[in-house]
Amino acid sequence: MTEHLIVADEQATRVITLRRPEKKNALTQGMYRAMSDAIDTAQNNPDIRCLIITGGSGVFTAGNDLDDFLTSGRPSVDTVMASNAVKFLHSLAHNVKPIIAAVDGVAVGMGTTMLFHCDYVLASKTATFSTPFVSLGLVPEGASSLLMPRTMGHQRAFSMLVMGRTMDADEAREAGFVNVVVAPGHTEAEARKAARDICALPAEGVAISRRLLRLPPEDMTRRIDQETHLFAERMRSKEAVAAFKAFFARKKEE
Ligand code: COA
Repeated sequence: MTEHLIVADEQATRVITLRRPEKKNALTQGMYRAMSDAIDTAQNNPDIRCLIITGGSGVFTAGNDLDDFLTSGRPSVDTVMASNAVKFLHSLAHNVKPIIAAVDGVAVGMGTTMLFHCDYVLASKTATFSTPFVSLGLVPEGASSLLMPRTMGHQRAFSMLVMGRTMDADEAREAGFVNVVVAPGHTEAEARKAARDICALPAEGVAISRRLLRLPPEDMTRRIDQETHLFAERMRSKEAVAAFKAFFARKKEE
């Protein structure tokens, strides 16, 4: 268990809240594990009809905890493949329940890539989306190399995934991965409304239709594993280690 994640069932909706605001909700292995458990245990629970992932007010998540990356040294590919982060991604790929994301503030790295496994995404006007993998010496993860070009086209995906360009909320809506842009502080309320709408629909019809819309889970897990293999190799690279250290050194230099 971790105090950095709250899971609460509100009628038929399971609300998963990231709560590590002092670190911009950066995702630790414990948080990945708890998110994965919250998703997995909903799968065969007929009382849960919908999931919401939220970062609360003002931030979604700054992505992988870079301190975890640094302190893990140079982990083997097998260690990374067996990590809770990868388990979380597999849980997302196999998830059969509609999943809504409420993004109020920054969504970096995994904070953006996980949205492509969601069915409905709300963003506040101040939300920003970025995947700075390459500048960190890394490569895309989370099946983003498969799902992002599929949603927004190759060129826009390239500008985010390779060039590390940031999108604001309106650009993200235009690119197709945000449904609605709302005022700051309103994403969770709007997510709950969307969840109520989904829960009011015939459950079997929703499940079958959702399955038809999505890629087969095996396609996504295959890509997740390919990416993770390369990502793990890159974590051991001089480029990546230097980038992680530079992030934590930046304040001392200011
Ligand atoms: N991992 C670990 N700690 C992180 C973090 C991360 N991904 N992102 C932020 N933090 C920590 C900071 O070290 C800081 O901790 P401190 O107060 O103990 O020094 C705290 O969260 C607040 O971050 P700060 O950078 O001061 O906030 P900001 O508003 O100026 O900037 C971000 C917010 C998200 C833009 C910036 O923190 C950032 O770029 N983070 C790294 C994002 C990243 O590269 N993620 C990995 C993708 S694979």
